[in-house]
Amino acid sequence: MRVRVRFTVPEVDPAELGGATAVVIDVLRATSTVTAALAAGARGIYPVASTEEALRLVQSLGRDDTLLCGERKGARIEGYDLGNSPGEFTPELVDGKRVVMDTTNGTPALLAVAEADRVVATCFANIAATAAALHDAADVLVVCAGSEDAFALEDAVCAGALVSALGGPGRHAFDDGARAAYVLASRWRVDPEFLAGTSAGQGLIGLGLEADVRWCAQRDVVDLVPEMRDRVVVVGGG
Ligand code: MLT
Repeated sequence: MRVRVRFTVPEVDPAELGGATAVVIDVLRATSTVTAALAAGARGIYPVASTEEALRLVQSLGRDDTLLCGERKGARIEGYDLGNSPGEFTPELVDGKRVVMDTTNGTPALLAVAEADRVVATCFANIAATAAALHDAADVLVVCAGSEDAFALEDAVCAGALVSALGGPGRHAFDDGARAAYVLASRWRVDPEFLAGTSAGQGLIGLGLEADVRWCAQRDVVDLVPEMRDRVVVVGGG
């Protein structure tokens, strides 16, 4: 297995997507929220890169069984059904529903790697499930969403946690990004305090969203892997 890590989306060369399994990480909060929504029974998640696209898609899918969710600057977009807090995606609200998702970093990151052979999403809540789902992948490209195209420590540490769960540098061919992520993950114990200390975590706390920080710091509480097929994220296979 070859493992490469890109810490921001602009670092991804489209030519490197062919043949690769892309793993998208946006710990705070899009891939955590995607994981929570699927665990709550969402039928599928439709990532979009703009509000205009979101509103168009909701109309074409049918408003009755489609939820519109997302954030700008961390806060729920006015007129949307939900924001981007994992804890608000409860079975009562999302079971059986389609979810159009419109966020600042995470959904554009998913769309940026749509041409990869396979696209999965991970976060701290499903690292073990993701590592298991990648057991037979030959070429893994981990893509951190970052924050507005800048490095995000929580995404890099999550990438390192995944790289470690895959077996570490002794077992696979790691590029420099993978080796750096592996060392970063060995340096920090992931807990709410760690996440709260990151730039994105500080922003969420400033919005009163401490519960999101706590949710996103959980390790391996969800045993499913979101997988994007034809631009729709569903529960992936093994
Ligand atoms: C996102 O999820 O795209 C962003 O990282 C920001 C957020 O959720 O507040």
